[in-house]
Amino acid sequence: MAGEKTFYITTPIYYPSNKLHVGNSYTTVAADAVARFKRLTGYRVWFLTGTDEHGQKIQRQAEAAGKAPREFVDEIVAWIKELWDELDIEYDDFIRTTEPRHKDKVARIFTRFHEQGDIYKGKYEGWYCTPCEAYWTERQLAGGNCPDCGREVELIAEEAYFFRMSKYAQRLIDHIEANPGFIQPASRKNEMINNFLKPGLEDLCVSRTSFDWGIPVPFDQDHIIYVWLDALSNYITALGYGEEGSLYEAFWPADVQLIGKDILRFHTIYWPIFLMALDQPLPKTVFGHGWLMLQEGKMSKSKGNAVDPRVLAGRYSSDALRYFLLREIPFGQDGIFSLENFINRINTDLANDLGNLVSRSLTMAERYFDGVIPEPLAADGQTDLDLRTLALGTPAIVEEYTGQLRLSDALTELWKLVKRSNKYIDENTPWDLAKDPANEARLGTVIYNLVESIRFIAVMLQPYMPRTPASIWEQLGISKQDELQSWSSLQQWGAIKPGTVVSRGEDLFPRLNLQAEIREMQGDKPAGQGSPGAVEEEKQEGLITLDQFQQVDLRVAEIVSAERVPKADKLLKVEVVLGGDDKRQVVAGIAEHYQPGELIGKHVLFVSNLKPVKLRGVLSQGMLLAATGGDGRLALTTVDREMPSGSRVS
Ligand code: ME8
Repeated sequence: MAGEKTFYITTPIYYPSNKLHVGNSYTTVAADAVARFKRLTGYRVWFLTGTDEHGQKIQRQAEAAGKAPREFVDEIVAWIKELWDELDIEYDDFIRTTEPRHKDKVARIFTRFHEQGDIYKGKYEGWYCTPCEAYWTERQLAGGNCPDCGREVELIAEEAYFFRMSKYAQRLIDHIEANPGFIQPASRKNEMINNFLKPGLEDLCVSRTSFDWGIPVPFDQDHIIYVWLDALSNYITALGYGEEGSLYEAFWPADVQLIGKDILRFHTIYWPIFLMALDQPLPKTVFGHGWLMLQEGKMSKSKGNAVDPRVLAGRYSSDALRYFLLREIPFGQDGIFSLENFINRINTDLANDLGNLVSRSLTMAERYFDGVIPEPLAADGQTDLDLRTLALGTPAIVEEYTGQLRLSDALTELWKLVKRSNKYIDENTPWDLAKDPANEARLGTVIYNLVESIRFIAVMLQPYMPRTPASIWEQLGISKQDELQSWSSLQQWGAIKPGTVVSRGEDLFPRLNLQAEIREMQGDKPAGQGSPGAVEEEKQEGLITLDQFQQVDLRVAEIVSAERVPKADKLLKVEVVLGGDDKRQVVAGIAEHYQPGELIGKHVLFVSNLKPVKLRGVLSQGMLLAATGGDGRLALTTVDREMPSGSRVS
């Protein structure tokens, strides 16, 4: 359709040489978030991913597994598709390089290059890295190994076809210089120019003869087309390049080609040169993101559950994994993936910030208004204006950052609104307003604003975490109202209708016990556990194992407020801070032993992972630890030197 805004985004096509780890998922999750965002904001989107199935590496892996290459890749491709389903990857097309629609076009592209004199026959003598499927000269090797992956290279000498890279080198340098957006982040541009283009580009070997798992050269069947020429072409063959009326006409050039920095050279040197030789426009942006590393080094399957994305998504939800991947690491930089960081993010950002906001707000809507969203009647105060101004300003910033692939920044911006909304509750203390019926209009306004702010947050969250908003719509009672879930509904404050009935559901993200998760996922047993003796000990009456003890998340908490619970002589409602923004409210049976005022500022021991309960209608989210003497006296337990709130106790 004329005038329609289109957006084409691609991921690398992965080698189905093994199951993918969480690092591979990173690229695809990011691409999916951007694709969803563009769909949400009115673009016609095409999102392509797939698998790179030919080449010596796959052939060898298949042999090692005792399988024919096709059978070998079929199994892994099925696993990869299941992974993408589990991570809610909404791709428009999945290309496999073994499909006829791809192979035929690659053969034609190769023939064209040959016919127009870009490809000539010669002999290749040099080094080859099979894991990277890359040629290297003696000079380029690092200590005799592959300069990219550090693994062993092989000396090969075979008849081969070559592509005249040198013919296009200057045109490419000019293009890169004239289009600062072409290679992103900008820092990667100089690396390509200075390390590869300026020293002089060697002609590239584009065929092999020593194995047969690939696309044969149509006019010389002993030769197999080099797997990178084969693979890179997927970005256009999948669109039906060369066919009239194809998607190619609507979507090429690609808007964003997302890749890891490890394959930047292939995508910013070979790929654009192939396109120039085909007389086709170059992609607008090739973005090389950083690597996800493990604390102990590079990621590999042998690290077990902790890097298996399907295990992680199955246990913690795909939304939590997607959020973590996109939020934790500024897109473009390297970052550490650790279970500890992951669990902490779930507990702070998802359980405390977002989860609490929704559950607190809807609990109050139910308690004070029977779940019926009230009319916002009372005059606007400063906190209302602040909240509304921030909410109305956030979509534009989130859109700008997402457009620039600053995905972590976009989420940080969105979380400012989550935190501001929580602060709005603390500022307006609805529980105090509820004490006097004269405040009903004001209380209604506060609840209305909270519900509307949650709706804003959920609309913006959709591309990043596709499942959580659906649960929020359900709780807000607007599942069937598409217009309230749309991007355009964020232009004005106040779209959710008073009278809508909300109903608080399950917590969006229950808090997790870090130690228990680490033990479960990494199998790290504390000393003394797992031995036959330990089993015997467990059976002894009244004893618990260290494992059981460590399930209790004990923290140092600072008391910041305390007040009596009306009509309950023994109870105080106490607010504590556990570090950062983690604030809890507990109901403690200490009113006969402490005056509220004397508690403020005390650092006490606190059980932070108790299931929340209501005592006398007041929510209690943890427990203060106290000693009780035989004479009925009681003393809170404190730490014997100053410790920051939130410190772990073990
Ligand atoms: O290179 N952190 O496929 P591949 C972040 N078939 N991203 C990572 C990562 C990590 N630790 N490890 C891998 C190939 N990736 C070729 C591509 S495209 C025409 C052909 C991501 O299965 C990153 O995007 O080795 C990297 O580029 C991609 O996985 C490599 O996947």
